[in-house]
Amino acid sequence: MKFTLNGQEVDAQDATSDTPLLYVLRNDMQLNGPKFGCGLGECGACAVLIDGKVARSCSVPLSVVEGKKVTTLEGLSPDASKAASAKALQDRAVLDVSAAKSEGSTPARTFTLHVVQQAFIDAQAAQCGYCTNGMIMALVGLFNQKPQASDDEIKQALSGHLCRCGTHVEIMQAAARARE
Ligand code: FES
Repeated sequence: MKFTLNGQEVDAQDATSDTPLLYVLRNDMQLNGPKFGCGLGECGACAVLIDGKVARSCSVPLSVVEGKKVTTLEGLSPDASKAASAKALQDRAVLDVSAAKSEGSTPARTFTLHVVQQAFIDAQAAQCGYCTNGMIMALVGLFNQKPQASDDEIKQALSGHLCRCGTHVEIMQAAARARE
């Protein structure tokens, strides 16, 4: 089953057509951005973009994305298309953090983040961070369609994404920063 993942064509040869897309992304493609939360399409932690629109990958069978474009958190960076793969970019981020840890310094990122990702860091909009993937993907999907979405539209887009830590104020601040 072939589809475009973060700008590159991939073939999920080992998965059956009814395998949830989330399993293919995490297990076969080794991308950790989309998270397994409820597995039932209810929490939003597994969100990805399919042809630019937000979808809950735990509830999307692989067959649905055949020939389509899937974007994960790792593929949002403007540098993702220049990297060998989104996995390579993800590995680079891990190396940046490990290098900084061993030197006792702040991680220096060697690639650019998407404006929404950067806004989440600037607004410190994560506590445990488990929902962050879904929140970011929901906002990117919204801003793809409505770059100047209103606060109410932002709340609507995030309404099905659950955050148990309660960082909703900072998440709204991040959304406002990204909109600017
Ligand atoms: Fe997919 Fe919760 S894990 S919506």
